[in-house]
Amino acid sequence: MRDLSPSKDILDPIEIASRDEIMALQLQRLKWTLSHAYENVPLYRRKFDEAGVHPDDLKVLEDIARFPFTTKEDLRQSYPFEMMAVPLEKVARIHASSGTTGKPTVVGYTQTDVDNWAHLVARSIRASGGRPGDRVHVAYGYGLFTGGLGAHYGAEAMGCTVIPVSGGMTQRQVQLIVDFKPDIIMVTPSYMLAIADEFERQGVDPRSTSLKSGIFGAEPWTDALRAEIEQRFDMHGVDIYGLSEVMGPGVANEAVEEKDGLYVWEDHFLPEIIDPEGGTPCADGETGELVFTSLTKEALPIIRYRTRDLTRLREGGARTMRRMDKITGRSDDLIILRGVNVFPSQIEEHIVRIDGISPHYQIELWKDGPLDAMTVHVEAAPGHEADDQRAALAATLGDNIKQNVGISATIDVTPVGAVVRSAGKAVRIIDRRGD
Ligand code: DLL
Repeated sequence: MRDLSPSKDILDPIEIASRDEIMALQLQRLKWTLSHAYENVPLYRRKFDEAGVHPDDLKVLEDIARFPFTTKEDLRQSYPFEMMAVPLEKVARIHASSGTTGKPTVVGYTQTDVDNWAHLVARSIRASGGRPGDRVHVAYGYGLFTGGLGAHYGAEAMGCTVIPVSGGMTQRQVQLIVDFKPDIIMVTPSYMLAIADEFERQGVDPRSTSLKSGIFGAEPWTDALRAEIEQRFDMHGVDIYGLSEVMGPGVANEAVEEKDGLYVWEDHFLPEIIDPEGGTPCADGETGELVFTSLTKEALPIIRYRTRDLTRLREGGARTMRRMDKITGRSDDLIILRGVNVFPSQIEEHIVRIDGISPHYQIELWKDGPLDAMTVHVEAAPGHEADDQRAALAATLGDNIKQNVGISATIDVTPVGAVVRSAGKAVRIIDRRGD
């Protein structure tokens, strides 16, 4: 893999500013955000008043802990536009996420917000090894989902040539990568694996492509999966994080020269970690639920948004901004099986380690009498499909999960192609316990 470390002089100065400088900027922007939200969004005014706090009560950054949280439910209840802090004619763009139940959550951006977002995605692309003039293949979905357009505007702002493919039509993805010779691909890690399989099906060596770096996010993925993708494509795999309520992709991103935690772009977002039960703040280094307050957003300022993503904050390395650990679980995906807590990523780690099993998987939960049970559906890799081979692979995976994760799961090793592929975020859990 090529060395893609950036020289310091191409970074935004704030990325490597002193902590004092970063925190002074955050305080100034946080004060503005709290007043802007309080004055222009009735929901925030009501919640602040109920909690007995006023924007003027914030003197230092830590005072943010006195302000109430915002949840996905708050956004749902404000459907479609009640969270907007500017008149609708000032909203340049709307995005929405459908979620699994209920009304979608709707978010909006002024032109300045769109520009800031593009700037932060450009910063993320640079941190991932991209440079002006690179060709960027965008295979995140375009539309109300923030992935496609977020990546697109960021790549344009970076001065790249954008190839706006969107998700799906896997054969064509391969053809365009071969013919257009992109340097960078932006896509969910699970769909990158489907693209890898399609390369192999067509008899084209994925290691022979022009790709030097992949910018993967929108779903949890493990370091084991990174190693698999990097090996199959001979390119870097870099983690990008974000969520629509806070902005979209580009809230945090790894540095390609480190791949050790994602830099939170702290000039635009104030991160906190809280105890998910009691809501009390956790110190840096402690694991808990990630909470964000936006610092520059005009159309939809977001105050202490509870992401339900679990991680911890650490000090910076190649940048001075703080890093968060790779997110391997969200509280929504926590499976409690006969008293043991398991995230899908813990199962993924063991799947990826076994040669002979492909890294596509789904976890099915069901009732075995009164007890909860789990079946892990995985695929045999090409050439390992015979009945006895599949039985042996199932036994190995079942043992590894039992030994390391502490649960007994039924393992179903299917023939190649039997596990559902998604062109965007993979669906990892199918819960049939209520059926
Ligand atoms: O997934 C935005 C995005 C697009 C991020 C493209 C990165 C790349 P939502 O659809 O609102 O937005 O989903 C946000 O996805 O709260 C996490 O649970 C999960 N997520 C996003 N990025 C990562 C990541 C986009 N790198 C939700 N690692 C978040 C783990 C991630 N989970």
